Amino acid sequence: MEEIPQGHLSGHAEHFSKSIYELLLPGHLQVTPGLNEVYELELAICESKILTDDEIVRRSAYFAQVGERPTYHTQICRGEALQLPRYSSARLRSFFETKQFKTGYATHGLFPYRGKFHPQMVKALINIMGMKPGETVLDPMMGSGTVLIEACLMGIKSIGVDVSPFCQFMTMAKLEGLTLPLDPIRFALKNCRTVFEHFQQRHGHTQPGNKIQAMTSTRPYQKPVPDYSARSASEGNLPEACESDAVKRFLLLAYLDSAGYSERSTRNSPLEQFRAILQRYLFVIEKIQAVMAHLNLKQAPANPLEGDARFLPLRDSSVDGILFSPPYSFAIDYLKNDSFHLRSLGADIIALRKNMIGLRGSNPHQKFELYKSDMEMALSECSRVLRPGRFCTIVVGTNDNQIGKILGTSPSRVPGIDEMLVSMSTRYQFHLARRLGRQVTGIANTMRTEYIVILERE
Ligand SMILES: C[S@@+](CC[C@H](N)C(=O)[O-])C[C@H]1O[C@@H](n2cnc3c(N)ncnc32)[C@H](O)[C@@H]1O
Repeated sequence: MEEIPQGHLSGHAEHFSKSIYELLLPGHLQVTPGLNEVYELELAICESKILTDDEIVRRSAYFAQVGERPTYHTQICRGEALQLPRYSSARLRSFFETKQFKTGYATHGLFPYRGKFHPQMVKALINIMGMKPGETVLDPMMGSGTVLIEACLMGIKSIGVDVSPFCQFMTMAKLEGLTLPLDPIRFALKNCRTVFEHFQQRHGHTQPGNKIQAMTSTRPYQKPVPDYSARSASEGNLPEACESDAVKRFLLLAYLDSAGYSERSTRNSPLEQFRAILQRYLFVIEKIQAVMAHLNLKQAPANPLEGDARFLPLRDSSVDGILFSPPYSFAIDYLKNDSFHLRSLGADIIALRKNMIGLRGSNPHQKFELYKSDMEMALSECSRVLRPGRFCTIVVGTNDNQIGKILGTSPSRVPGIDEMLVSMSTRYQFHLARRLGRQVTGIANTMRTEYIVILERE
């Protein structure tokens, strides 16, 4: 709406001349560009009430400026949007530009893991759970490590657990990207072919345009391949400059990312694809490292573990907040999606399937029953490790069509997984503090709303 100079307004017009942000937030706070959903506004209001002005500058998610002071979030996000290869579609470009403050910052954009959290929302939820620097947040199903990366930049210690070794590997590489020496990555980019061939020899490659099938049975379990010890470092033909474990992990993540693209598209040769992705990875870490140096941001310790959320390797009452997003019933087959990557790491996919929540069971009915009992075990573990009086936040949607079929009911009558979890959680000393809905776009035939469920540990 066009802005009208205040002097010209009648008394009546004053009622609608102010934006919703001006009406609901203190005048000296300016929200981030692209804040346009109700749940975001609610989270912004909570941040404005919980944090001091100085904290809003340092760690808020939804504010761009406090008076004249730009927030750290603005400084971390602004600048050139994520660099994409020249041939990327206009749709992809505009996605990254509009999402610059929501998802496209720090190392979050590395590797397109399905079901990733929105980092900006994660930051706000960490604030709203009342977490302070020096405390520890846990993500018991960390996926690509969004919670750990956000916490690390906010000065909050973090522990992540995921049953998939690929998630541990990916999270580690993305965390290390925040401080990785840049010269070896620049060198690797100049010597792209050698690096590509090194990984191709060690980890195999995908056939362009040929979607990899999930491994089902025959391949025997192998010891994990990326043993980046001194012994293995001398094998193969990776340039000497790239031989630290962290550099190799980062390069391998770029290689696996490029293999995923090559699997889906024949537009570029796998080598060209790898070059484009490595260039983007370098751009991402150059950008975040420059901002971290400018803001003098110190990373808090983060500990990504391979483990099972149903049997957390943690002591009772040892964490100060929990934030996670479980598999949405069995909407995504993570093992099928990540089969090349898991195989590259030498993971035993058959054994993994036995522990992967949402994938256990041989028919949809049994899968749903096992999903419920597994989530109950995970909630009981969350209750055990969380300090009393603190919060556990779960972000979850419901695959209405799929569950409707199993329960023999219409998708519109499916009980939400959010409701199921809230009711289960009461058996483990939790009560519901707040539930927020957010609209999911793009997959409306599967899921329309996702819920942010904030539980308080009694
Ligand atoms: C929706 S994803 C989480 C995505 C994550 N929030 C992110 O930002 O990338 C759910 C994760 O749960 C993990 N998972 C499934 N079963 C698990 C189990 N038994 N223990 C721990 N993690 C498990 C999956 O591997 C998957 O990465």
